[in-house]
Amino acid sequence: MRKEYIYHRFERFWHWMQAAVIIFLGVTGFEIHGSFTFFGYEQAVEYHDIAAWSFIMLIVLAIFWHITKGEWRQYLPTWKNLKAQANYYIFGIFRNAPHPTKKTVLTKLNPLQKLVYAGLKVLLIPTMVLTGLVYMFYRYPQQNEVLSLNISGLQTVALLHTLGAFLLVSFFVAHLYLITTGHTVTSNLRAMITGYEDLHDETTNVARESAPTASDKIAAETKEVTQ
Ligand code: HEM
Repeated sequence: MRKEYIYHRFERFWHWMQAAVIIFLGVTGFEIHGSFTFFGYEQAVEYHDIAAWSFIMLIVLAIFWHITKGEWRQYLPTWKNLKAQANYYIFGIFRNAPHPTKKTVLTKLNPLQKLVYAGLKVLLIPTMVLTGLVYMFYRYPQQNEVLSLNISGLQTVALLHTLGAFLLVSFFVAHLYLITTGHTVTSNLRAMITGYEDLHDETTNVARESAPTASDKIAAETKEVTQ
């Protein structure tokens, strides 16, 4: 095992800010939706708008960072090991099987994470921002303001925005569980706080390209027997 610096300072800042802003948007959004009362409807709308603009600013910063550092490549989806990774989460994890892919500086995300995060970045988050902005700038046609959208109604937009919110809540719950499935229960969380993670020596720079070999399985079984 060797300690490697895998999450840069900006990446960690962006991750935690994004988490806080999305949770706040979720809380205020579901209050607007009528799920509960906490701030009061009008305050909730005001806070949701402020958080939404903060989120948009954070997204602009993150896009700039991902492009200039080339980190967007981390999210390019791949079929390689996708099935092995899914099998690991469904079966292997409960049998103490080895992770089918190893985290490295160049490949921080496993194939399933690549797919889910790419979906979040190119589909879900843009949908939330676009439907949110339409929601924000929609005015009833008779008002004729400069910054207004005269579309026939908000029904579809509201439906998409709310559906997206439910998907984000589901992602959040799954994410909380998956945080605990690293090398140790807290290793993923600690890595996102400190930037450092213990990685396997032989795989610090190159992603492991294949599913676990027979010797990996034997090693895992031997480990199980000796524990
Ligand atoms: C930049 C991103 C976003 C923008 C611009 C935005 C904007 C808005 C606006 C303007 C409303 C309507 C407020 C009103 O009724 O006056 C709204 C509602 C809502 N938002 Fe967002 N929002 C964004 C992101 C999010 C996120 C990330 C979530 C969830 C995690 C969320 C959840 C909700 C929910 C649940 C509602 C209530 C929908 C309904 O019942 O019709 N929003 N949003």
